[in-house]
Amino acid sequence: MKFNQLVEMTRSCRRFDQKDLPQDFLDSLIEIARICPSARNSQPLKYITIDDQDFMSRLFPNLLWAGALKNWDGPETNERPKAYIAMILDKSISGNAAWDSGIVAQTLQLYAMEQGIGSCILGSFDKKKITELLELDDKHEIQFLIAFGYPLEKRVIVDVKEESDVKYYRDDNEVHYVPKRSVQSLLLRKI
Ligand SMILES: Cc1cc2nc3c(=O)[nH]c(=O)nc-3n(C[C@H](O)[C@H](O)[C@H](O)COP(=O)(O)O)c2cc1C
Repeated sequence: MKFNQLVEMTRSCRRFDQKDLPQDFLDSLIEIARICPSARNSQPLKYITIDDQDFMSRLFPNLLWAGALKNWDGPETNERPKAYIAMILDKSISGNAAWDSGIVAQTLQLYAMEQGIGSCILGSFDKKKITELLELDDKHEIQFLIAFGYPLEKRVIVDVKEESDVKYYRDDNEVHYVPKRSVQSLLLRKI
């Protein structure tokens, strides 16, 4: 697969097939995260891998899925992620990992999609409850969760029609459309 095709396919996925992920999948995510770039090479991100069914059912109610889809409360029980990774900042190493966490997140999403596995970054959640659930001490701060599973929904990029309207939407067949701005509107100038 060409790289631009992989990037295009790596759309956020929020409804998942219940087929099991490869056994070593979660471990391999940490291997990939380990070799990602890091500001000052400080590597302050730590990870918790999650695929325990009972834990995932306690985690799920604390997540906000697709805030733009007002009439959708997130995946039904039989369409939920098969696994998650929690990305955690070790504050004894650095006070901020915003750039590092973004780089790792997209790298993991691309890695997963190359194997046909869909994913969704989750940055909106009940931070207090998730911190408790993950039993994080004061030194550790949750950044994102990323959900994984084989995709059950079709996701399609469309052009932004009106400059202000970037809201994703779904049609009657549950196809998920993601408006992206045009290249012309992104490229301010060539120098
Ligand atoms: C930092 C960040 C946080 C996000 N948090 C959530 C979230 O809490 N819930 C969710 O359903 N999607 C979340 N997303 C996914 C975005 O909604 C998604 O990237 C956007 O709609 C564009 O779709 P695409 O990923 O298919 O390009 C997040 C994405 C990023 C980059």
